[in-house]
Amino acid sequence: MSRSSAINTSMTGLRVIGVLAVMCSPMQDAGAQAALPFDVPSWAFPGSQTDSAIADSSRFHRVPNSGARFTLPQVVDRFAPPDWHPSGHSSMPDVVAHGRKPNLFACAYCHLPNGMGRPENATLAGLPEDYIIAQLAAFRSSARRAPLPGWIPGNSMHPVAMSATEAEVASAARYFSGLRFTPGVRVIEAARVPRTRQAGFVYARIAGAGTEPIGSRIVEGPPDFERHELRDDGMTYLAYVPHGSIKRGRSIATTGTNGPTTACVTCHGTTLLGMGLIPPLAGRYPTYIVRQLLAFKTGARSTAASQPMQAVVARLSVEDMIAVAAYAASQPAAPRSR
Ligand code: HEC
Ligand code: HEC
Repeated sequence: MSRSSAINTSMTGLRVIGVLAVMCSPMQDAGAQAALPFDVPSWAFPGSQTDSAIADSSRFHRVPNSGARFTLPQVVDRFAPPDWHPSGHSSMPDVVAHGRKPNLFACAYCHLPNGMGRPENATLAGLPEDYIIAQLAAFRSSARRAPLPGWIPGNSMHPVAMSATEAEVASAARYFSGLRFTPGVRVIEAARVPRTRQAGFVYARIAGAGTEPIGSRIVEGPPDFERHELRDDGMTYLAYVPHGSIKRGRSIATTGTNGPTTACVTCHGTTLLGMGLIPPLAGRYPTYIVRQLLAFKTGARSTAASQPMQAVVARLSVEDMIAVAAYAASQPAAPRSR
C-alpha cells in the first residue's frame, strides 16, 4: 500500500480501522523490520483495532471539566475537531482549528487544541517556533520519516507538510510555540502491568483481564480509552516502565553511557527543558521519545540538524532508550520562558 493510499484509507476513520489492524499485524512488522539496519521493536508502534469504545454515533459525549458536548461524527471531523477546553489555550489560527480541504487536516485534530498531542503523535506546546518550521520542512522532503515504514501515525505528517503554505506553517508554529506545556503523562515503574490491547495507536487496558509482566518495553496509554477516542486534551496518559528505568535513565542523561554517548543535558539543558533550537524532552510522551531515538538510529530522521543526534544514538541500546525516555518523561516540564 502506498503512502498516500494509506493516508486516504485512514481518512475514512473508525469504519476502516480493520484495515489498519491488518497493516499493523505482527507479520507486517516482521517484514518491515527485516529491511532495517537495526532491530526496531514493534511494541513502540501500537496499532489499532476494529472495535470502538464509542458505539452510539448520535449520542452527545462529554469529558471532565468541560461544558461542551459533541457527537462521534463531530469528534472525528478532521476539519473541525472538538475543542473541549477553549479557555485552556489562546485563539487558534485557522490552519490549527480547521486546516484546509481536501488534504490539510487541522493540526488540532492530532496535536489537540492545547498542543499536548497524544503519545502516538507529538507534543507541540512550547517547542521553539523555528524548530517547528524546520520539522515541517523535514517532513516535506522526507528527511524525517517514521522508523517503522507503514506505521500510520508516522506517515501522517508528510501530506500535511506537502499541503501547508509557508504562511500556514508560520502561523501554526507561532501558535504552538506560544502555548504553555501542561503535564500530559505520568511515568510509573512496575514489574507487572495491566493487560492491554493495541487500539487507537496506544495501549488500552482490558477491563478485568488482570496483569502481565512488563518485560523490556514501555506500555503507554490512556487511563480511560473513551477519553482518548474523544480526543480529550485534558487527560493525563500513563506510561509503565520497567523497575530501575528512571535511575538508569538519569545516569545516561546526566553523564552519558559508558560508550562515547554525550550526556543529554549537555545539549538539551540541565533540566532537559531544551536550549535554543534544541527541543525540550522533559515531560514528553516516552514512547514518542523512543521512536525519535529509533528514527535517528535507523536514519529515518536524517536532516543536517539531526547530525548531533546520530552520534548520540549510535551506542544506545533499546534498553538505554527506554531508560532515558522514562527519565526524561518523568521530569517536571515547567513552561518555557519566552
Ligand atoms: C493526522 C494527524 C496529524 C496532523 C493533522 C498533524 N500532525 Fe503533526 N505530527 C503527527 C504525528 C503522528 C507526528 C509524529 C511523527 C513522528 O513520530 O515522527 C507529528 C509530529 C509533528 C511535529 C514534530 C514535533 C517534534 O517535536 O519534533 C511537528 C512540528 C508537527 N507535527 C506539526 C504539525 C502542524 C503544524 C500541523 C498542522 C499544520 C500538524 N502537525 C498536523 C500527526 C499529525
Ligand atoms: C550534541 C548535542 C546533543 C546531545 C548530546 C543530545 N541531543 Fe538530542 N537533540 C539534539 C538536537 C540538535 C536535536 C534536534 C534535531 C533536529 O533539529 O531534528 C535533538 C533532538 C532530540 C530528540 C527529538 C525531540 C523531538 O522533539 O522530536 C530527542 C528525543 C532527543 N534529542 C533525545 C536525546 C537524548 C535522550 C540524549 C542523550 C542520550 C540526547 N538527545 C543528547 C542535540 C543533542
